[in-house]
Amino acid sequence: MGMGRFIVLEGLDGTGKTTQIKKLAEYLESRGEKVHITAEPTDFPSGRLIRRVLSGEVPSSPWSTAALFLADRIRHCTDPVDGIRRHLEAGETVVTDRYYFSTFAYQGYATDLRWTMDIHYSCPELLRPDLVLFLTMSPEKCIRRITANRAADAIEIYENTEALTKVSRQFDKVFELLRDRENVVYIDADGTVEEVAERIRAAL
Ligand code: TYD
Repeated sequence: MGMGRFIVLEGLDGTGKTTQIKKLAEYLESRGEKVHITAEPTDFPSGRLIRRVLSGEVPSSPWSTAALFLADRIRHCTDPVDGIRRHLEAGETVVTDRYYFSTFAYQGYATDLRWTMDIHYSCPELLRPDLVLFLTMSPEKCIRRITANRAADAIEIYENTEALTKVSRQFDKVFELLRDRENVVYIDADGTVEEVAERIRAAL
């Protein structure tokens, strides 16, 4: 059996990635593919530590946070039981909610973008995605969606308009830099769930 396809969904908080991943998986399964859905930060111990950093409970510098994401991502790729590589080798399509582009965008602007890219692209244990779907929406609209859907105490450190505006600019910069290196499709995420799902199916 051949290797499955590795698809990444990226976008600001509030763009609806989680909903769209479920829709995408349903669609691919209806076409006979076996789909594995996953996300970063992961549920491995490394990912749980990151959640505590993001909530402000555990202190960390942006550099340290970037390194934590790299460590979590290596585990995500290589875990012998539930890792991305294992699922791809079983012929499954793997769809992940966020991958290293998020570290380039969220930690890249507060550290050194080159450094965040270098530590990822020089790591042999990380897998390269076949397709990156980048869900785009204005930071203002993202914040409106986040605050409408969540209790105030569950809002994480990046979830304010100023931070998301920086992250949004950084995502644009990152994908511009990676134009010849990664297979990225921009998806307008401002629309109904069905409209956006259709845009994603068209991009496949
Ligand atoms: P996520 O669980 O996708 O949040 P949400 O479901 O609210 O969109 O990601 C949690 C946060 O982690 C999000 O604010 C983005 C941040 N993040 C980084 O800063 N760097 C990274 O490399 C990743 C994967 C996520």
